[in-house]
Formats: sequence, C-alpha cells, structure tokens
Amino acid sequence: SKIGDLIYAGKAKDVYETDNPTQVIVKFRDDITAGDGIKSESLVKKGFYNSVISSKFFEVLEKSGIKTQYIELIKPGYMLCKKLDMIPLEVITRNIAAGSLIKKFPFTDKQELNPPVIQMDYKNDEYHDPMLNDSITIALGLATQQELDGIRDITLKINAILKDFLLERDILFPDFKIEYGFDSQGNIVLGDEISPDTCRFWDSKTWEVLDKDLFRKGESGVMDAYMKVASMILSNEDKE
Ligand code: C5P
Repeated sequence: SKIGDLIYAGKAKDVYETDNPTQVIVKFRDDITAGDGIKSESLVKKGFYNSVISSKFFEVLEKSGIKTQYIELIKPGYMLCKKLDMIPLEVITRNIAAGSLIKKFPFTDKQELNPPVIQMDYKNDEYHDPMLNDSITIALGLATQQELDGIRDITLKINAILKDFLLERDILFPDFKIEYGFDSQGNIVLGDEISPDTCRFWDSKTWEVLDKDLFRKGESGVMDAYMKVASMILSNEDKE
C-alpha cells in the first residue's frame, strides 16, 4: 500500500490515505501529551513501541473474534488499517480504581472493581471530554441505544480477553480507553490504539507503573516502561 495524503492529524497519530479507499495508514508519532494537550513532549521511539504494542493487542483480539481496524504492521510506526468513521466516544473500562475515578468519586485508590466499571466520555477537547450518559449520547446523535448496548458488550469481552492475556504476562490492567468506528458496511469496529498512552499497566509483582501516568506525573523512565511492556507482551508466546 502506497502512503497518500494526510487526512487526519491527532495528538499522537496521523492518518494517511492509501491507494485503497477502504484502507488507511495510521502513523504512530513520538509526541506525548497530557491535560487536553497542554503538556507536550516528544519521546524518541514512542511511536515505534506503541504501534508494536497496539498491533499485538489487535492480533490477540482478532484471534478471539473481535472485529478490529487492524490489517498489518507495515513497519514499526506504520499500521495498515480498515478505514473507519470514528465515533467521538472514549470508552473507558476500569478493573481497579485509579486516576480520575478516585478524584471524582469516593472510591479507594487501587480498590478492585468487579464487575468492571464502564464509562463513556465525549471526545471533545473544547468541552474537556465530559462524562456522558446514554441519554446525552443519544441526544447528541453520537450513537443509538442499540449501538451503545453493542459497544458495552464488545468492550466487556475485550476487557476479559486482555486482562487474562496481560495477567499471564505479569501485568495488571487497572483501566484502559478504546474508541470505535463504523466500517464501510456499517459494522461497529474497534479502532484507534491500545498502548501505554491509553491504558494503565502495573507490574503484578512489584506494582511498578508501566504507562503514561509516569509522564503525567513528570517522572523519569517513561520510555523504559513502554519498552518493558513491549518485551513482557511479545515474549512468552508459549502462554497463548
Ligand atoms: O484519567 P482517567 O483515570 O479517567 O483515565 C482512565 C483511562 O483512560 C487511563 O488508562 C487513561 O490512560 C485513559 N484515557 C485516555 N485518553 C483520555 C482519557 C483517559 O487514553 N483522554
């Protein structure tokens, strides 16, 4: 697939046309941002690792029957994907209380959440990604009730698959954010990325933080943590 015109530039990824109108190339950039893009830096090789990590998760999910945008990793940093019409929802699933949940509600830090908590935020920087309920989502015309029920159903399956996959590799999965879109046939398909930029990952033996929270808190070793996640999920193929 030949890389064509840039059709979308996000905060950490670019989307390019290809010679096939149903496919795009997603380029994972090295930029990392926090706080609606206020805090911004470049981390050498972050795009490389996030693309490799996301590809691995998409492959694991595809093998379990989840529809994803993923076609192939052309080379690290460049993912060939189905073109999706993205839904501006940040679908957040939580297995352990952390982050904004413990700031906004009286949960205890690291409290187990079983069944998992699913939350949907409106992906909109101008409005600072407000938390939605179904009624507001439907009134905004973002999705129908049936689509929201389908999204929750697929999201719980994704959570169960990835939580087990990660725990076998000594990683806890406190929470993560995913996004969905419609493919050319109108199916709801998992898009975007699944990486340390969009998930919390904790070492299950040491409780070491292995994700973007290190950057958010201004700590060092961000890339080392991302590389550690990559090595933990890419080795031990025998466990699958
Ligand atoms: O900040 P909060 O605790 O709500 O984040 C929950 C999860 O969603 C975290 O894994 C975080 O990385 C992810 N997230 C994201 N993009 C956002 C907000 C949250 O990837 N805009």
